[in-house]
Amino acid sequence: MPTHTKQTVETVVKKIDERRKHPKGKPRKFPYGCDQCDGYGNIVTEQGARACECKKRYFIQVHLEQANIPPIFEDKSFDTFENPTPEHEKDLKWAREYVKNYSSTNKRGVLFIGHPGVGKTHLAISILRELILKGYTGLFFNMNDLLQEIRATFDENSSATEFDILERLLGVDVLVLDDVGAQERISGFVLDRFYTLVNGRYQANKTLIVTTNSDPKTLEQRLQAHTISRLYEICELRMASVETDYRTSNYAGSPGPKKRGARGVRRAGHPEGL
Ligand SMILES: Nc1ncnc2c1ncn2[C@@H]1O[C@H](COP(=O)(O)OP(=O)(O)OP(=O)(O)O)[C@@H](O)[C@H]1O
Ligand SMILES: [Mg+2]
Ligand SMILES: [Zn+2]
Repeated sequence: MPTHTKQTVETVVKKIDERRKHPKGKPRKFPYGCDQCDGYGNIVTEQGARACECKKRYFIQVHLEQANIPPIFEDKSFDTFENPTPEHEKDLKWAREYVKNYSSTNKRGVLFIGHPGVGKTHLAISILRELILKGYTGLFFNMNDLLQEIRATFDENSSATEFDILERLLGVDVLVLDDVGAQERISGFVLDRFYTLVNGRYQANKTLIVTTNSDPKTLEQRLQAHTISRLYEICELRMASVETDYRTSNYAGSPGPKKRGARGVRRAGHPEGL
Protein backbone atom coordinates (compact mmCIF):
# COMPACT_ATOMS: atom_id res chain seq x y z
CA MET A 1 0.00 0.00 0.00
CA PRO A 2 1.40 3.41 -0.87
CA THR A 3 2.34 5.94 1.73
CA HIS A 4 -0.11 8.81 1.90
CA THR A 5 2.56 11.20 0.76
CA LYS A 6 6.11 10.69 -0.36
CA GLN A 7 7.27 14.13 0.67
CA THR A 8 9.42 14.46 3.72
CA VAL A 9 9.55 17.47 5.98
CA GLU A 10 13.01 18.17 4.57
CA THR A 11 11.69 18.35 1.02
CA VAL A 12 8.94 20.71 2.11
CA VAL A 13 11.43 22.97 3.87
CA LYS A 14 13.74 22.82 0.86
CA LYS A 15 10.90 23.91 -1.41
CA ILE A 16 10.16 26.84 0.89
CA ASP A 17 13.82 27.84 0.78
CA GLU A 18 13.83 27.61 -3.01
CA ARG A 19 10.73 29.77 -3.21
CA ARG A 20 12.44 32.36 -1.04
CA LYS A 21 15.43 32.43 -3.34
CA HIS A 22 13.40 32.82 -6.51
CA PRO A 23 15.67 34.96 -8.70
CA LYS A 24 13.07 36.85 -10.70
CA GLY A 25 10.06 38.90 -9.73
CA LYS A 26 8.94 40.03 -6.34
CA PRO A 27 10.12 38.35 -3.17
CA ARG A 28 7.84 35.44 -2.34
CA LYS A 29 5.52 35.60 0.62
CA PHE A 30 6.52 33.32 3.48
CA PRO A 31 4.05 30.66 4.52
CA TYR A 32 4.40 32.13 8.04
CA GLY A 33 4.99 35.55 9.55
CA CYS A 34 2.70 37.72 11.66
CA ASP A 35 2.35 41.02 13.51
CA GLN A 36 4.11 39.57 16.56
CA CYS A 37 7.37 38.91 14.68
CA ASP A 38 9.56 40.39 11.96
CA GLY A 39 7.17 38.97 9.35
CA TYR A 40 9.60 36.15 8.62
CA GLY A 41 8.81 34.06 11.70
CA ASN A 42 11.64 35.38 13.88
CA ILE A 43 11.49 37.43 17.03
CA VAL A 44 14.74 39.29 17.40
CA THR A 45 15.65 40.73 20.79
CA GLU A 46 18.86 41.90 22.41
CA GLN A 47 19.23 38.38 23.79
CA GLY A 48 19.14 36.89 20.30
CA ALA A 49 16.60 35.52 17.84
CA ARG A 50 13.92 32.92 18.50
CA ALA A 51 11.18 31.38 16.43
CA CYS A 52 7.79 33.05 16.58
CA GLU A 53 4.67 31.03 17.41
CA CYS A 54 3.47 31.50 13.80
CA LYS A 55 6.56 29.69 12.49
CA LYS A 56 6.29 26.94 15.11
CA ARG A 57 2.61 26.45 14.28
CA TYR A 58 3.44 26.21 10.58
CA PHE A 59 6.05 23.50 11.08
CA ILE A 60 3.80 21.54 13.44
CA GLN A 61 1.22 21.53 10.65
CA VAL A 62 3.86 20.35 8.16
CA HIS A 63 5.00 17.61 10.54
CA LEU A 64 1.42 16.44 11.08
CA GLU A 65 0.83 16.28 7.35
CA GLN A 66 4.02 14.29 6.87
CA ALA A 67 3.36 11.81 9.69
CA ASN A 68 1.64 9.29 7.39
CA ILE A 69 -1.37 8.95 9.68
CA PRO A 70 -3.95 6.86 7.76
CA PRO A 71 -7.11 8.78 6.78
CA ILE A 72 -9.26 6.48 8.91
CA PHE A 73 -7.35 7.63 12.00
CA GLU A 74 -7.36 11.32 11.12
CA ASP A 75 -10.02 12.16 13.70
CA LYS A 76 -8.71 9.78 16.34
CA SER A 77 -7.15 11.41 19.36
CA PHE A 78 -7.17 11.31 23.15
CA ASP A 79 -10.33 13.39 23.00
CA THR A 80 -12.17 10.84 20.89
CA PHE A 81 -11.05 7.84 22.98
CA GLU A 82 -14.10 6.88 25.01
CA ASN A 83 -14.01 5.40 28.48
CA PRO A 84 -16.87 2.94 28.78
CA THR A 85 -14.94 0.88 31.37
CA PRO A 86 -12.29 1.55 34.06
CA GLU A 87 -9.80 -0.37 31.86
CA HIS A 88 -10.28 2.12 29.04
CA GLU A 89 -9.77 4.91 31.51
CA LYS A 90 -6.56 3.27 32.73
CA ASP A 91 -5.11 2.92 29.22
CA LEU A 92 -6.03 6.48 28.28
CA LYS A 93 -4.52 7.82 31.51
CA TRP A 94 -1.32 5.91 30.87
CA ALA A 95 -1.06 7.29 27.30
CA ARG A 96 -1.67 10.86 28.44
CA GLU A 97 0.95 10.47 31.18
CA TYR A 98 3.41 9.09 28.66
CA VAL A 99 3.08 12.25 26.57
CA LYS A 100 3.25 14.48 29.63
CA ASN A 101 6.49 12.88 30.82
CA TYR A 102 8.10 12.67 27.38
CA SER A 103 11.07 14.93 26.81
CA SER A 104 14.36 14.94 24.93
CA THR A 105 15.95 13.28 27.97
CA ASN A 106 13.02 10.95 28.73
CA LYS A 107 12.09 9.43 25.40
CA ARG A 108 12.02 5.68 25.93
CA GLY A 109 9.61 4.02 23.52
CA VAL A 110 6.77 1.57 24.11
CA LEU A 111 6.01 -2.01 23.17
CA PHE A 112 2.21 -1.90 23.38
CA ILE A 113 0.63 -5.36 23.52
CA GLY A 114 -3.06 -6.23 23.43
CA HIS A 115 -5.90 -8.10 21.76
CA PRO A 116 -7.39 -6.85 18.48
CA GLY A 117 -9.63 -3.81 18.74
CA VAL A 118 -8.66 -2.71 22.23
CA GLY A 119 -7.44 0.69 21.02
CA LYS A 120 -3.69 0.20 20.59
CA THR A 121 -3.42 1.95 17.23
CA HIS A 122 -5.86 4.66 18.33
CA LEU A 123 -3.72 5.43 21.39
CA ALA A 124 -0.38 5.08 19.56
CA ILE A 125 -1.54 7.59 16.94
CA SER A 126 -2.87 9.90 19.66
CA ILE A 127 0.54 9.80 21.36
CA LEU A 128 2.28 10.49 18.05
CA ARG A 129 -0.01 13.43 17.29
CA GLU A 130 0.50 14.94 20.76
CA LEU A 131 4.27 14.59 20.51
CA ILE A 132 4.24 16.35 17.15
CA LEU A 133 2.20 19.13 18.77
CA LYS A 134 4.96 19.32 21.39
CA GLY A 135 7.43 20.03 18.58
CA TYR A 136 8.87 16.60 17.73
CA THR A 137 8.86 15.00 14.29
CA GLY A 138 7.12 11.66 13.84
CA LEU A 139 6.01 8.96 11.45
CA PHE A 140 3.42 6.18 11.49
CA PHE A 141 3.74 2.96 9.54
CA ASN A 142 1.72 -0.22 9.55
CA MET A 143 4.37 -2.95 9.40
CA ASN A 144 2.69 -4.80 6.56
CA ASP A 145 2.35 -1.65 4.42
CA LEU A 146 5.95 -0.78 5.12
CA LEU A 147 7.18 -4.17 3.92
CA GLN A 148 5.12 -3.82 0.76
CA GLU A 149 6.59 -0.41 0.16
CA ILE A 150 10.10 -1.79 0.61
CA ARG A 151 9.34 -4.68 -1.75
CA ALA A 152 8.01 -2.20 -4.34
CA THR A 153 11.43 -0.52 -4.45
CA PHE A 154 12.90 -3.77 -5.83
CA ASP A 155 11.02 -3.12 -9.08
CA GLU A 156 13.49 -1.78 -11.62
CA ASN A 157 11.08 1.05 -12.52
CA SER A 158 10.86 2.26 -8.94
CA SER A 159 12.28 5.72 -8.37
CA ALA A 160 12.54 5.18 -4.61
CA THR A 161 15.15 2.94 -3.04
CA GLU A 162 14.96 0.91 0.13
CA PHE A 163 17.62 3.22 1.53
CA ASP A 164 15.29 6.24 0.98
CA ILE A 165 12.55 4.57 2.97
CA LEU A 166 14.81 3.51 5.81
CA GLU A 167 16.40 6.94 5.94
CA ARG A 168 12.97 8.49 6.35
CA LEU A 169 12.03 6.02 9.09
CA LEU A 170 15.25 6.54 10.99
CA GLY A 171 15.23 10.33 10.62
CA VAL A 172 12.18 11.23 12.70
CA ASP A 173 12.15 11.69 16.48
CA VAL A 174 9.24 9.28 17.02
CA LEU A 175 8.47 6.23 14.88
CA VAL A 176 5.29 4.19 15.37
CA LEU A 177 5.41 0.68 13.88
CA ASP A 178 1.92 -0.73 13.98
CA ASP A 179 0.91 -4.40 14.05
CA VAL A 180 4.31 -6.04 14.28
CA GLY A 181 4.82 -9.81 14.36
CA ALA A 182 1.36 -10.66 13.07
CA GLN A 183 2.38 -13.67 10.98
CA GLU A 184 3.14 -17.01 12.57
CA ARG A 185 6.03 -17.71 10.25
CA ILE A 186 8.04 -14.59 9.60
CA SER A 187 10.36 -14.71 6.59
CA GLY A 188 14.06 -13.90 6.75
CA PHE A 189 13.35 -10.77 4.69
CA VAL A 190 10.92 -9.44 7.29
CA LEU A 191 13.13 -10.40 10.23
CA ASP A 192 16.08 -8.58 8.61
CA ARG A 193 14.10 -5.38 7.99
CA PHE A 194 12.63 -5.34 11.45
CA TYR A 195 16.08 -5.82 12.95
CA THR A 196 17.43 -2.97 10.79
CA LEU A 197 14.69 -0.67 12.06
CA VAL A 198 14.98 -1.60 15.73
CA ASN A 199 18.76 -1.44 15.60
CA GLY A 200 18.66 1.87 13.69
CA ARG A 201 16.37 3.46 16.26
CA TYR A 202 18.49 1.95 19.04
CA GLN A 203 21.74 3.33 17.67
CA ALA A 204 20.27 6.76 16.96
CA ASN A 205 18.75 6.84 20.46
CA LYS A 206 15.34 7.66 19.03
CA THR A 207 11.86 6.73 20.18
CA LEU A 208 10.19 3.62 18.81
CA ILE A 209 6.56 2.79 19.58
CA VAL A 210 5.47 -0.70 18.53
CA THR A 211 1.97 -2.18 18.71
CA THR A 212 1.34 -5.90 18.49
CA ASN A 213 -1.19 -8.63 19.21
CA SER A 214 1.56 -11.04 20.17
CA ASP A 215 2.41 -11.56 23.81
CA PRO A 216 6.09 -11.36 24.89
CA LYS A 217 6.53 -15.15 24.71
CA THR A 218 5.15 -15.32 21.17
CA LEU A 219 7.25 -12.35 20.10
CA GLU A 220 10.35 -14.03 21.50
CA GLN A 221 9.55 -17.13 19.43
CA ARG A 222 8.91 -15.15 16.25
CA LEU A 223 11.62 -12.52 16.32
CA GLN A 224 15.36 -12.93 16.54
CA ALA A 225 17.05 -12.74 19.94
CA HIS A 226 19.22 -9.75 18.95
CA THR A 227 16.10 -7.83 17.85
CA ILE A 228 14.14 -8.67 21.01
CA SER A 229 17.08 -7.71 23.21
CA ARG A 230 17.30 -4.22 21.66
CA LEU A 231 13.52 -3.83 21.57
CA TYR A 232 13.27 -4.40 25.31
CA GLU A 233 16.09 -1.99 25.95
CA ILE A 234 14.54 0.92 24.04
CA CYS A 235 10.87 0.19 24.83
CA GLU A 236 8.90 -0.10 28.03
CA LEU A 237 6.48 -3.02 27.95
CA ARG A 238 2.84 -1.98 28.19
CA MET A 239 0.06 -4.56 28.28
CA ALA A 240 -3.30 -3.01 27.35
CA SER A 241 -5.72 -3.10 30.28
CA VAL A 242 -8.70 -3.35 27.94
CA GLU A 243 -9.49 -6.88 26.74
CA THR A 244 -12.64 -6.33 24.72
CA ASP A 245 -12.78 -5.54 21.03
CA TYR A 246 -14.22 -2.07 20.46
CA ARG A 247 -15.03 -2.95 16.87
CA THR A 248 -17.53 -5.63 17.89
CA SER A 249 -18.70 -4.09 21.14
CA ASN A 250 -21.84 -2.11 21.74
CA TYR A 251 -20.06 0.73 23.48
CA ALA A 252 -21.64 4.08 22.74
CA GLY A 253 -20.70 5.24 19.28
CA SER A 254 -19.12 1.93 18.25
CA PRO A 255 -20.20 0.84 14.76
CA GLY A 256 -19.71 -2.87 15.53
CA PRO A 257 -22.40 -5.59 15.65
CA LYS A 258 -24.54 -5.34 18.77
CA LYS A 259 -25.15 -9.06 19.18
CA ARG A 260 -22.05 -10.18 21.01
CA GLY A 261 -23.00 -9.14 24.51
CA ALA A 262 -22.78 -5.91 26.38
CA ARG A 263 -19.00 -5.99 26.58
CA GLY A 264 -18.18 -7.14 23.06
CA VAL A 265 -15.78 -10.01 22.34
CA ARG A 266 -13.69 -10.71 25.38
CA ARG A 267 -10.73 -13.04 25.10
CA ALA A 268 -9.39 -15.06 27.96
CA GLY A 269 -5.77 -14.78 29.07
CA HIS A 270 -3.02 -12.83 27.40
CA PRO A 271 -2.91 -11.86 23.75
CA GLU A 272 -1.54 -14.54 21.47
CA GLY A 273 0.06 -14.29 18.08
CA LEU A 274 -2.65 -13.95 15.48
N1 LIG B 1 -12.04 3.59 23.67
C1 LIG B 1 -12.29 3.88 22.39
N2 LIG B 1 -13.01 4.98 22.06
C2 LIG B 1 -13.29 5.27 20.77
N3 LIG B 1 -12.91 4.50 19.73
C3 LIG B 1 -12.18 3.39 20.00
C4 LIG B 1 -11.84 3.03 21.33
N4 LIG B 1 -11.11 1.89 21.28
C5 LIG B 1 -11.02 1.57 19.99
N5 LIG B 1 -11.67 2.47 19.22
C6 LIG B 1 -11.82 2.45 17.76
O1 LIG B 1 -12.02 1.10 17.38
C7 LIG B 1 -11.26 0.78 16.22
C8 LIG B 1 -10.24 -0.29 16.57
O2 LIG B 1 -9.27 0.26 17.47
P1 LIG B 1 -7.70 0.11 17.17
O3 LIG B 1 -7.48 0.08 15.72
O4 LIG B 1 -6.99 1.13 17.95
O5 LIG B 1 -7.48 -1.32 17.81
P2 LIG B 1 -6.13 -2.17 17.91
O6 LIG B 1 -5.97 -2.54 19.34
O7 LIG B 1 -5.05 -1.46 17.25
O8 LIG B 1 -6.56 -3.48 17.10
P3 LIG B 1 -5.67 -4.43 16.14
O9 LIG B 1 -4.78 -5.22 17.05
O10 LIG B 1 -6.69 -5.28 15.46
O11 LIG B 1 -4.91 -3.56 15.20
C9 LIG B 1 -10.62 2.09 15.77
O12 LIG B 1 -11.49 2.70 14.85
C10 LIG B 1 -10.57 2.91 17.05
O13 LIG B 1 -10.58 4.30 16.80
MG1 LIG C 1 -4.03 -1.78 15.46
ZN1 LIG D 1 5.04 35.52 13.79
